[in-house]
Amino acid sequence: MEAKRAAAEEAVKFIREGMSVGLGTGSTAYWAIRAIGARVSEGLHIQAVATSEATERLARELGIPLLDRLIGLDVTIDGADEVDGRLNAMKGGGGALLREKLVAAASRKLILIVDDSKCVDRLGGFPLPVEIVPFGAELTMSQIGRLGCHPVLREMEGRPFVTDNGNFIADCAFGRIEQPEELQLRLKRITGVVDHGLFLGMADKLIIGHASGAVSVREREEKDTTKGREI
Ligand code: 5RP
Repeated sequence: MEAKRAAAEEAVKFIREGMSVGLGTGSTAYWAIRAIGARVSEGLHIQAVATSEATERLARELGIPLLDRLIGLDVTIDGADEVDGRLNAMKGGGGALLREKLVAAASRKLILIVDDSKCVDRLGGFPLPVEIVPFGAELTMSQIGRLGCHPVLREMEGRPFVTDNGNFIADCAFGRIEQPEELQLRLKRITGVVDHGLFLGMADKLIIGHASGAVSVREREEKDTTKGREI
């Protein structure tokens, strides 16, 4: 908990008066939203967009002003399930990947916040969440399976987990993903796939929290002019 909180609080220092801010989802983003709420209660003026209904509820409780539509944003702070050395990330463990990706793509800066257990050499230790349309889900999953995994339909209380967008999530254990760029293209070619948890070339900054409460910061090296686009 201390590691997540430390990373989150460091990230919130980058938020300035008047900014428009994307609010991530998950237990690490929770600490960032709490810290943003504290600054708002001290007089900071921002406008925010939530990446999930859970985040929206928390932001409202904390008095953070929310926009009712997605616009171009200054900065987004969000967690991740894995991040590699190029700041490519895997997200969607909380099932919010689609809104998270839309918000990240609309942001001039994406800051990822993680504890140090999330830093990996190659993505893929965590099963890749893929958001799929419920209609034809079985066929869609068998098409995804041909790319080299065994998709498992995510369930909650014995029923398919339904995202905030009314879709299902297939958790796809690919193992080490050697060519994430190739995989994301192949996934997006499957009609029933809405989106997937690979966030490649999107993060600008990674803040890593450690159990001691210390943080380390990594910046993305190359500036990618196709940020947010996948083709
Ligand atoms: C939700 C996400 C989360 O950011 C990711 O799962 C990390 O969550 P946590 O901070 O709870 O470990 O992508 O869809």
